[in-house]
Amino acid sequence: MASLIGLHFGQCGNQIGFDFWKTLSNEHGLTSNGVARESPTGGQRNDRLDVFFSEGDQEKYIPRAVMVDLEPRVINGIFQSDYADFFKKTSSFMSADGGGAGNNWASGYAQGQKVSEDVLELIRLEAERADDLEGFMVTHSVSGGTGSGLGSFFIEKIRSEYPKKVIQTYSVFANQAGGTSDVIVSPYNSILTLARLIQEADGVVILDNTALHHIAGSHLRATSSNKFDHINYLVSRIMSMSTATIRFPAPLFSRMTSMLATLIPFAPLRFLQTSMHPVVDPRDAMDYNGKTNINNVLRQLLRPINLMISRPDHMSRSYQNLAKSKGVMLSGLAIMQGRINNEDFFNTTTAAQAMMRDEIQKPAWMDHNPMHFCRAPLSPFVETKVNVSGMMLANHTSAVTLLSHTLHQYSAMRSKNAYIDRFKNEDGFHLDEMDQSAELVNDIIEEYKNIENPEFFQPQ
Ligand code: GTP
Ligand code: MG
Repeated sequence: MASLIGLHFGQCGNQIGFDFWKTLSNEHGLTSNGVARESPTGGQRNDRLDVFFSEGDQEKYIPRAVMVDLEPRVINGIFQSDYADFFKKTSSFMSADGGGAGNNWASGYAQGQKVSEDVLELIRLEAERADDLEGFMVTHSVSGGTGSGLGSFFIEKIRSEYPKKVIQTYSVFANQAGGTSDVIVSPYNSILTLARLIQEADGVVILDNTALHHIAGSHLRATSSNKFDHINYLVSRIMSMSTATIRFPAPLFSRMTSMLATLIPFAPLRFLQTSMHPVVDPRDAMDYNGKTNINNVLRQLLRPINLMISRPDHMSRSYQNLAKSKGVMLSGLAIMQGRINNEDFFNTTTAAQAMMRDEIQKPAWMDHNPMHFCRAPLSPFVETKVNVSGMMLANHTSAVTLLSHTLHQYSAMRSKNAYIDRFKNEDGFHLDEMDQSAELVNDIIEEYKNIENPEFFQPQ
């Protein structure tokens, strides 16, 4: 059975990673110290625990997770939480007295080099523990210092050490509310990271804090002092639903590679967006009285407005004038969960072709339906009154909005060399690298625009 290893870099990477593992522990009926519960429906359980967990002593399941940070606070917090005994502490790396990478990609990358062997050894140990390693799921933010810079360094390392394994990233983009990000040098960090993702990753799921913030704000209740709590809940749902067909028996898409092969028809265009319906606060799941069925869920998934990515109106004024196209869908995969009978599934997925004409458009040159559909079983351990829910992974050219906005912000800063000394003074870092990265991002933007051209592909 194929297995996947979670690699979590920096504050954001570890925080969303932690929420993902908590969600998996719920869905697979594991206690907070990793012991498997009896299935509530009785009988044999049929979930694929070994995709994400290795078996430890005393019937404990241990996350295949390597957490890495250049400061101790976040990982220590996880180790002092209710899940203190869930993770194998020796699989994590933190600089005990480190201060992080100060939102500086170049510092994160350089520090990655220094700790390279220590971290790679942890990854190798996890890889050896997996019988049939399919690949890695990376979580990080592209705009800070550690997740972006150190994350980039290890993505490169893993690509060269495991050339045939999948690298799927869940990459968080900074919130742009008000036109600027919460990290001033975020455009530099993001461009440098994007270049690595373009070159080394097999699939990049865009987690756009701007869009997530809007959706979480209107559907979920924020709770504690951590302002990311409800956003991260949404992220953990995206991550868990996008792996549901791998973790539970499903006829299609039981491996990450088959999902990516479907979603990525043209190799360089690997940025995936998501949509989800309904978005329900977990505390309300048992009181939910919305009427969901496969038809209305699918229709919502296919509405461009529900794609969790920044739209031009989220962006700064100076940028808005540049963005015009609504974009087209190259490929999409809707994963449906809940009470769906065969006939409804068949009828609705056939009808979806018509829905696409009203909602998301496909390229004019495309003569097939870019949408794919599948069902994933619901976890027997999670109780909900939501009848049907769904999420879509979409390879849609509207990713250009986020990419070109980031490039636009980058160019504005680079032309004035604003805050550039921080990068210049970092040993081993050359500013040329920034400009080369920007060129790569620009090339990808052009590729996406090409796809929208009706002449892009002419069957012979
Ligand atoms: P340094 O602290 O600079 O060494 O790097 P880091 O990788 O630890 O930085 P961090 O992950 O904090 O990156 C900053 C970006 O990530 C900002 O845009 C934050 O808004 C975002 N971010 C931080 N924590 C979270 C989180 O838990 N969830 C989400 N969705 N975004 C986060
Ligand atoms: Mg940090």
